[in-house]
Amino acid sequence: MADKKQIELKAYIEKYSKKDDASSYLIAVLHKAQVLYGYLSKETMEFVAEEMNVPAAHIWGVATFYHYFNLTPQGKYTISVCLGTACYVKGAVEIMEAIKEELNIKEGETTEDMMFTLQEARCLGACGLAPVIMVNGKIHGDLTPKKVIEVINEYKKAGM
Ligand code: FES
Repeated sequence: MADKKQIELKAYIEKYSKKDDASSYLIAVLHKAQVLYGYLSKETMEFVAEEMNVPAAHIWGVATFYHYFNLTPQGKYTISVCLGTACYVKGAVEIMEAIKEELNIKEGETTEDMMFTLQEARCLGACGLAPVIMVNGKIHGDLTPKKVIEVINEYKKAGM
């Protein structure tokens, strides 16, 4: 049976289904699906494929091409560690290592308690504050390995 999110997604898709080339709206539809579900599951992609009358393989191709789309469930907090040039020369690798050690996960993974997802980024547009991380859209800069653990601990406390 269709849940509330599925009904909303279906209505969104229907908005485009009358257009000549509905498949050119695929990214917008996948974006909407990700906003609703937090990530794109196989079931969600199959649903979109059916509703849009687009081959499931095409949906999968688009979803995997754009790094923006998440194919696995995300933690409550997504940590993006900037590995752009400015951050890199100011110790971004050490920042990344400190987080990995603290959370016991690698890039692209989520902690077992579903609290944190770790990913890397290329220039978050705050080079003046390098090295920086972004947590759910909020920038934290001028970091050291010690400071970044303090930042993470604040989120741990807030998330409990
Ligand atoms: S290189 Fe990290 S914010 Fe620009």
